[in-house]
Amino acid sequence: MKTITLNNGVKIPVVGLGTFRAKENEAYQAVAHALKAGYRHIDTAAIYRNEKEVGQAIKDSQIPREEIFVTSKLWNDDQGYEKAHLAFQKTLDELGFDYLDLYLIHWPKTYQKAADSWKALEELYHQGKIKAIGVSNFTFHHLEHLYETATVIPAVNQVEMHVGIQHEKLRAFCQEKNIYLEAYAPLMSHEIKNLLANETLQKVAASKSATIAQVALKYLVDLDVIILPKSTNPQRIEENIDLFNITFTSEEKALLKGLNNGRKYFPDPDNIAF
Ligand code: A2P
Repeated sequence: MKTITLNNGVKIPVVGLGTFRAKENEAYQAVAHALKAGYRHIDTAAIYRNEKEVGQAIKDSQIPREEIFVTSKLWNDDQGYEKAHLAFQKTLDELGFDYLDLYLIHWPKTYQKAADSWKALEELYHQGKIKAIGVSNFTFHHLEHLYETATVIPAVNQVEMHVGIQHEKLRAFCQEKNIYLEAYAPLMSHEIKNLLANETLQKVAASKSATIAQVALKYLVDLDVIILPKSTNPQRIEENIDLFNITFTSEEKALLKGLNNGRKYFPDPDNIAF
């Protein structure tokens, strides 16, 4: 599996299994199958309520813990210095781990809460309990405010990203600051039907032995983005990691770039009601 080296030297596999909306046994089965299929990167969050099953599937795989990259996220209600410490310990306990590879602030709330939570994450990072720390759903101004008090630069910013939202400006900004973008909902999530119905994707996929999903995912990988496709279906789990032989001509790249229409399927981070 191809890896990317984050700004602190930690290596992250470029494809990770997303587990949002995968409940309990479904999450267990998906993670177990993904690890058999060659995934070494699993993305979960406290709010997904499946950390226990994710951790158990990793343990049962008998693959050494250090060979698997695991991410979890601090939920909004747990933001703040002390709460973040407690929430992180709960996440570790649920997963059954003694360290985590990547821990993210799930959504930006107030600047103060982000700064206080970040301080806790930095301490846990310095203690070696987290290998890398980052954020999720942060836009320019959230990052700029975090920078005012941060002493550790976020390693990643995990955002909604797919062919419809290609984040040209945020990508350039993060690249300059040495932050990698991670794409959640890389297949448009619950609206994947829109992706599958796209004629450009259909045409590009038909011209090579690839599926529409594989074309949409590999396009993001080629932009140097870490992708987190979610699936609980064994065949699709395998399909989503079998991308690395797909290449695009410059014409195809231009066609795929043209699909960037700004249509979001998840809330705007500046207007969240949770
Ligand atoms: P399922 O879990 O039944 O496979 P996203 O990664 O953007 O969040 O998208 C996830 C959605 O896309 C889920 O509904 C998932 O359903 C579906 N999905 C995942 N991989 C594929 C694929 N290769 N082809 C078609 N649908 C897919």
